[in-house]
Amino acid sequence: MAQIQDTGVDVPIGMTTTEAPFIEMSRSKGEMYVEQPYGLYSEDNHEAWRRLYARMLPRWEKYANEHFMKGIENLCLNPEAVPKLEDVNQFLCPLTGFSAKAVSGYVPAYLFFDALRNREFPTTITIRRKDKLEYLPEPDIFHDIAGHVPMHTDKAFADTLVRFGECAKTAAEIAQEIPNPEERAHQVASIIRAMARFFWFTIEFGLMRDSRGQGLKVYGSGLLSSFGEIEYCIESPEVQRYPIQMEWVVNQAFEIDKYQPLLFIVDSFDHLYSLVDALELWMKEGKLSNVAPCEPEVNEEDLKSFLHWDQA
Ligand SMILES: [Fe+2]
Repeated sequence: MAQIQDTGVDVPIGMTTTEAPFIEMSRSKGEMYVEQPYGLYSEDNHEAWRRLYARMLPRWEKYANEHFMKGIENLCLNPEAVPKLEDVNQFLCPLTGFSAKAVSGYVPAYLFFDALRNREFPTTITIRRKDKLEYLPEPDIFHDIAGHVPMHTDKAFADTLVRFGECAKTAAEIAQEIPNPEERAHQVASIIRAMARFFWFTIEFGLMRDSRGQGLKVYGSGLLSSFGEIEYCIESPEVQRYPIQMEWVVNQAFEIDKYQPLLFIVDSFDHLYSLVDALELWMKEGKLSNVAPCEPEVNEEDLKSFLHWDQA
């Protein structure tokens, strides 16, 4: 048994996704932000990281965008062991002001986006099983640290995330101006759905034209952390790849447990930033208040987080 220093409580070793006693304990106490209990990672957890990192590296070299590769280098990620967030932040913070903050699991949408506004990235600290390395619908530390965080070393990308976080604040402020509670809930759910779709098709599954004329590259973290899909999304004739269009993205449903059949391309992170500006403008003009229904579902907790953001 390992001991968590400040509590003196013995917690069994192991930080495996859906099987980590530390996570269950933190969530039962209602703790969303936690300290990364580094001593609890098992040898199997480190082995899972080693395997994931080793098999992704050649695919990153082939398919990832140049900013990501620079980010991997700048973060000095250890291929041999689950990273300590403290070490990652030492390299990350001086570059863009971003830091990775350990969480015990799901973070309601408004709080997640608002953390981005404050240059904090809520980071999952569990890791998938070493014998089940394929893409999981739930995030893990490989998805968050190896898939997302290298992108946060790039200034233009980091500024875009902050801008996205500001849009969440704008949405919450718009909600306050709608007097009828039912109408307020309907419009806010629609705005959350639009924001979730935009986030999905850009930050999680975005493609970008390579500035050196080398075709399409991957910048979305869902793709960057998936051994199978990073290749499939570029090579497969079954994937539709289109220049991004706001009216399409905010109305397009998606499924999280399959390889994506449709992806959108941006020209650069400056282009992406300008799209987030447009997203906010559309929000203010009411163009996101009735987007097409279907996926993703907006759950009660996400909705409440936007409606009662000032009480959080
Ligand atoms: Fe993600």
